[in-house]
Parts: sequence; structure tokens; C-alpha cells
Amino acid sequence: MFSFSERLQKLPPYLFVELDRMKAEVQAKGVDVIDLGVGDPDLPTPSHIVEAAKKALDKPENHHYPSSAGMLSFRQAAANWMKNRFGVELDPQKEVVALIGSKEGIAHFPLAFVNPGDVVLVPTPAYPVYHIGTLFAGGETYYMPLLPENNFLPDLKNIPEDILSRAKILWLNYPNNPTAAVADKNFFAEVIAFAKEHNLIVAHDAAYTELFFDDYVPPSILEVEGAKEVAIEFHSLSKTYCMTGWRIAFAVGNETLVTGLTKVKNNVDSGAFQVVQEAAIAALTGDQQCVAEFRNIFKKRRDVLVEGLKKLGFQVEAPKATFYVWARVPEGYTSADFAAKLLKEAGIVVTPGNGFGEPGEGFFRVALTVDEKRLEEAIKRISSLKF
Ligand SMILES: Cc1ncc(COP(=O)(O)O)c(C=O)c1O
Repeated sequence: MFSFSERLQKLPPYLFVELDRMKAEVQAKGVDVIDLGVGDPDLPTPSHIVEAAKKALDKPENHHYPSSAGMLSFRQAAANWMKNRFGVELDPQKEVVALIGSKEGIAHFPLAFVNPGDVVLVPTPAYPVYHIGTLFAGGETYYMPLLPENNFLPDLKNIPEDILSRAKILWLNYPNNPTAAVADKNFFAEVIAFAKEHNLIVAHDAAYTELFFDDYVPPSILEVEGAKEVAIEFHSLSKTYCMTGWRIAFAVGNETLVTGLTKVKNNVDSGAFQVVQEAAIAALTGDQQCVAEFRNIFKKRRDVLVEGLKKLGFQVEAPKATFYVWARVPEGYTSADFAAKLLKEAGIVVTPGNGFGEPGEGFFRVALTVDEKRLEEAIKRISSLKF
């Protein structure tokens, strides 16, 4: 009797729903499945953050509607964190907005700046929400392929002039999901110059800046001189502090861009629960040793997995950041065939690379969200397969 709107009908299937269905099928047969699919850390939120939430819960003033922009104390904590971590100065009143997870902000942002028919430049393979937010805003997605020969950076020169003249937003995400690629400040500077030349908004998804390894430290795009004239950056506490379930993040940068996003939020949500914002303040202003410990855990897992895969002959590099490993499937397999084989024959869930977009074909993504022992077990199971 009722049909879904055209925008819902145009949605691609949400990748992880299909993976969950396949996983449930295998589990129903009694298989002990090792899930390396979804990027949700298995580690608990550090106790000082949980304690701050418990205290905040007892305060009646936190039981009311929050402001959709976020508590000023939260925005101040976010601004201070940006200053300490990246040396970026921000006005917490005008250049910071709280988000109910960065997914919320990323999905809503195009509603503030994209008119029907406008183009949004979206990397592929990528986190699906850049395209979905574009679709919901009535925009058209132009995909910028991220290819291994370009170190998984978009080739801006390849974007046609007629696309550029209709383009409003250019999305970036470094450290990158799913490829685990990183971008340096020179690349960000090129993007900012390009955006100024073509009158584009740069929206940078910086969800993984704190999960870095060895001697690499990811920059913020706002470190580039003049970036604040055209850029907004999305930061999340989800991965940094193992707080995926809490739903708290923030966007920072150009005042007009932050104001536009806040206007959308004023009309569709009533802000993040203040208890969660107080926990987030504890996270951002507290001892950062917990983040160093998370990095250390993920680094050890990375080493177990990458060394294990290399020994089995896989083409894979140790990522400098994120908790993902992006590896080539063995010759003769598509991404989907290989992922299905791992699930059916070894009880291991990985994400087929093409699920993030066609240029991801030929790759699979592993999320390092189980402990070292389970990763060793995964490698053992893979070693018993014939390719
Ligand atoms: C690249 C990227 N951006 C944003 C998000 C959303 O994170 P959250 O909504 O938890 O802040 C994710 C989650 O997996 C992600 O991988």
C-alpha cells in the first residue's frame, strides 16, 4: 500500500546488513565465527570516562533538552583539544558544533549546502555515508577513485570541468577507511588551493586521526594555512576513546559551514545527551595515556595479522594508521568470492573491498577488532585453506 520514497529506493544496500545476514547463517550451523568485519572496537571505554558519565547522570540539569550546538563547555574542550593536538585555533562559539556521532554530522551536512542537481565529489572506495547524505539532499555524487598507484589519494586533475562547475562539496577521509591510506600536509594544501580555485567546500572526515603507529602522526586539514576559509573537519570520540555506542563527535572549521550544519541540526535533533557530553569532556581533557594504550594494542594486532598474511603469500602492507588492514585477494578470486570462501570454509568475516565501491574490487578489509589470540587463530584457519 505504501511505497518508499525515491530517495530510499535509490539507496544501495547497507553493506554490513548483508554481512550480518551471512554471518548469522554460518553461526546458525554452530561455527565459531571470527568477525573481522565491522569497525567497532572490542575494548571498553576507559573507566575515568565512564565515571564522569555516572556523576553527570545524577545532575538534574542534565535531564533536559540539550542545545543542538552542544554545551559550550564541550565545545571549549573540543577547541582546546584541537589546539593541543594540531595547533589549530578555533572559536568554540562559532567554529565548533557537537554531533551525535560523526555519522550524524556527515549525513546531515549536505542538507545545509547542496541543492538538487548540485554535485558532491566523493572518494571511492569509501565510508558509504558521503554518498548517502548527498542522495538525501538531492545532490549527484561524482566518484573520485582511490587507486593504489596514487597511494589511494584522489587525482584532482581527473575531475572534468563540467563536473567541477556544478560541484559544491569535496569529501576526504584520512587516515582512510577502508584503505588505511594516509595523507600528508602537502596533499591537504593542494586540496585547499584546488577548493579555493573551484569554489568548493572541503569536508574532511578525520575519524581515525588518533589511531596511528610507529613514527607517523596524522595532521588535521585545518593545519594548512587558510584552510578555515573553505574547510570543515569531522572528529569523533568513537574510535579514539572506544566510545562507539555513546554517539558523540564534533565538527570544526569555517564558521558558515559550522553554522549551516547547526541550522540543520536545530531542525532535526535536539542535541547529544548532556551526560554523554560531560563524559566526552572527561575524555578530551583527561589523561591521554588511554589513547596511547589503545594504539599499542592495535599495533600489536596489526603486526600479528600483517605478518601472518605476508607469510601466507598475501600482498599487504602494514598500515600507518586506522585499525584496518587492506589486502589484495589471492589471484583468481573476486572480493566477494574470497570473502564468501573465508566465511564458509574458515568461519571468518572480512569485508569485500568492492562493498565500499568498485575500485575496491580485488581487495578485502580486515578490522582489527578482536584480540591477538583470535587473529592468530584466524591466520591458522586461513593457512589451512587452498587457494
Ligand atoms: C570513515 C568513518 N567516518 C565516520 C564514521 C562514523 O563514526 P561515528 O558516527 O561513530 O562518529 C566511521 C565509522 O565507522 C568511519 O569509518
